[in-house]
Parts: sequence; structure tokens; C-alpha cells
Amino acid sequence: LLVNVYPGQKEASLYVAQKIATLIKAKQQASEKAVLGLATGATPVGVYRELVRMHREEGLSFYNVVTFNLDEYYPMQPHAEQSYVTFMYENLFSHIDIDKANIHIPDGTLAVEEVAAFCLNYEKKIEEFGGLDLQVLGIGRTGHIGFNEPGSAPNSGTRLVTLDNLTRSDASRDFGGKENVPTKAITMGIGTIFKAREIILMAWSRKKAPIIKKAVEGEISGEVPATYLQLSDHVEFVLDEDAASELT
Ligand code: F6R
Repeated sequence: LLVNVYPGQKEASLYVAQKIATLIKAKQQASEKAVLGLATGATPVGVYRELVRMHREEGLSFYNVVTFNLDEYYPMQPHAEQSYVTFMYENLFSHIDIDKANIHIPDGTLAVEEVAAFCLNYEKKIEEFGGLDLQVLGIGRTGHIGFNEPGSAPNSGTRLVTLDNLTRSDASRDFGGKENVPTKAITMGIGTIFKAREIILMAWSRKKAPIIKKAVEGEISGEVPATYLQLSDHVEFVLDEDAASELT
């Protein structure tokens, strides 16, 4: 597990965007697709902004990019303001030349009895594209990655989960009150994330410092799902100084 600390979120975001751009261009050289696992939330916004800038100003093309988002609230209509579909289009997809057919985001509109088959198919599609080249992650204050809350199994796959109380509190502002935050989500599993050839977990600000300390230095346990990342040799934590401030 590699830990890279940058003075600020801006520098760190540029570094991650540069890594993604390098991967995309290398795959273009080889006439291959770049398969990206993407996250939503506040953390990756600066990375997406920089990728959009590279597209506009440097001609970075996304014609060969295939994306799989980590998660979506359940239930959730794609056109709702708080949906991760809306988030991804507003922050990235609407501003780049990605083929919309290459975008995959868990479907929050399914009937309960359709969810299991959808999740299996999500895994299958990732496999069909040859697996994830790079998975980008944030981290929740519960230690979740994707929406794999405490208690998640290390070999878990894409599935319907129940959101932790703290996660719903942290989302309450987006929904105008905690009572409006969905109680469930569809998320890639820890096992799904682990299969990515490269994983980058980003965290900014003091608010994340205690959970980053646990994730990097704590005992590996399902109580803090991000600790499972300690078991992988292709994980990089990209932090700002505030998020790293409790590391020894
Ligand atoms: C989002 C996701 C979550 C977030 C995490 C941090 O797709 O999977 O794990 O990365 O909740 O959220 P922010 O970045 O808003 O602090």
C-alpha cells in the first residue's frame, strides 16, 4: 500500500487526472479500451474538472473509454437531482467525447426482484471488457469504499446494500434532510473493486483524517472495509496534508 501526500487537494487531483490521462493515451496507442471504475461525491470533482480541461484544451479524447460507476442510491430515478447519473453527467460525461453506450451506472429504478440479476450482469459486463484497468475511490467516514459499509465481506460482489446511519447523515444536505436519503444503494463489492488492476483512493480534509488513520494503520477488519485495501499491492492512497495529518 502506497501513500502519497500532496500539499493540497488541487495538486493531488491534478496528479490523479494525469494518471488517468496517461492510461487512456497508452490504451489508444495500443488500440485498446481503457476501462475505468469511477466514484461520485465531493472527492473526485477536481479530478473530473481537470479531465474536462484536458479534453477542451489539450485534445484528450475519451473515444476508447469505458466506465463503470461504483454505486447508485436505491431507489433512485436517473434524472433526479441527487442521482449519481446526474452527478456524472454534470461533472464529466456531458463535457467529454465519451460514447454514451460505454457508460455504466447501477440502475436505481429496478424492481427489487430484478436487482440480483442486474448485479450479476454488471459483474459480467466488467469481465467482458477485460476487467477494470483503474478504479478510483473516495472513502466515507464509516470506512466504506463504494457503499460497502462496515460488515461487508472481502469477496463481496455487486449487490443491494443498506446504508449506514452516518453515511445517510453525511448525505442529508444533498437531500434536504436525512429522512429523504434513500436507505439502500446498489454498489460494486469489495471483491469487484479488488479485481481492478490499479486502485487509487483519494481523501481530502481533516474530516477524513481519523478514518484515513484507521484505513492505513488500523487492523484489517470488516468493521472498516477500507482496511481490506492493505492486502493489495496495487493500491495507492492519494491524500492532502489534512487527510494525512493523523498518520504516524
Ligand atoms: C461514491 C462512493 C462513496 C464516496 C464516499 C466519500 O461513489 O462510492 O464511497 O466516495 O462516501 O464521499 P465524499 O467524496 O463526498 O466525501
